Amino acid sequence: MRLEGKHALVTAAGQGIGRASALALASNGATVLATDVNPQLLQSLVGIPRLRTAVLNVLDKRAVDDAVASFPLLNVLFNCTGMVHEGSILDARDEEWEAAFALNVRSFYWLIQASLPHLLNNGKGSIINMSSIVGVKGLPNRFIYSATKAAVLGLTKSVAADFVSRGLRCNAICPGTVDTPSLAQRIAKAPDPEKARKAFVERQPLGRLVTPEEVASTVVFLASEESASYTGEIFHINGGMTL
Ligand SMILES: NC(=O)c1ccc[n+]([C@@H]2O[C@H](COP(=O)([O-])OP(=O)(O)OC[C@H]3O[C@@H](n4cnc5c(N)ncnc54)[C@H](O)[C@@H]3O)[C@@H](O)[C@H]2O)c1
Repeated sequence: MRLEGKHALVTAAGQGIGRASALALASNGATVLATDVNPQLLQSLVGIPRLRTAVLNVLDKRAVDDAVASFPLLNVLFNCTGMVHEGSILDARDEEWEAAFALNVRSFYWLIQASLPHLLNNGKGSIINMSSIVGVKGLPNRFIYSATKAAVLGLTKSVAADFVSRGLRCNAICPGTVDTPSLAQRIAKAPDPEKARKAFVERQPLGRLVTPEEVASTVVFLASEESASYTGEIFHINGGMTL
């Protein structure tokens, strides 16, 4: 029960990394509000001890404010929403840029801004923001995605610097390729899915994909007091991609 007394709000908890993290936070003793835009996906989390689900579209500012207000004991926030846009700058359209920034960055800003009074008031607050390997390393055909994930790192460091003196921590996680449903969908859409999966595996020197549970372990660590002196840090989980 490393997280007894913690109250954690998780976004994008319906599947993949968000779901694994919501489960890991609850099984380590936290009280969890697991949110997602998709109510069907949240069904698989119903009945888990210490975990409550709520539909939340992070593109809706009022819904963000209401979700945070419904969870005033909050002291951990895991911002996990994000979409991958594939292509170089030559493929990018303004509406794709705006949609990606709205989901991958603006939603983090809204959730952090709404949560801050509670996080500061409740003490020992920890914000965990989902970035990606593409936020720190140039990879081909990820122009918009890379720009959003690098923005998450700037946002993380800024919040960390502004609130460190008040005991609030803010860190970012940068996974490599994680075996999640959305990755499976992207692979299935490739002209040669088997080749696409092999390419994802081969670019990680460890020779396999990262699991959602491995990322969830880092989320649990950052939510816990074991990480009490870490803030403004970037946690790489990528099977050696940044070696
Ligand atoms: N999978 C990877 O390889 C990988 C690698 C690095 C970083 N990431 C990042 O991790 C995060 C989660 O990725 P994943 O692959 O585990 O998830 P996923 O794409 O499989 O699932 C995303 C979840 O977000 C929800 N969602 C979509 N729009 C939403 C909205 N407007 N409001 C609330 N919820 C919404 C979906 O319903 C879904 O449950 C993303 O930020 C992604 O960029 C993923």
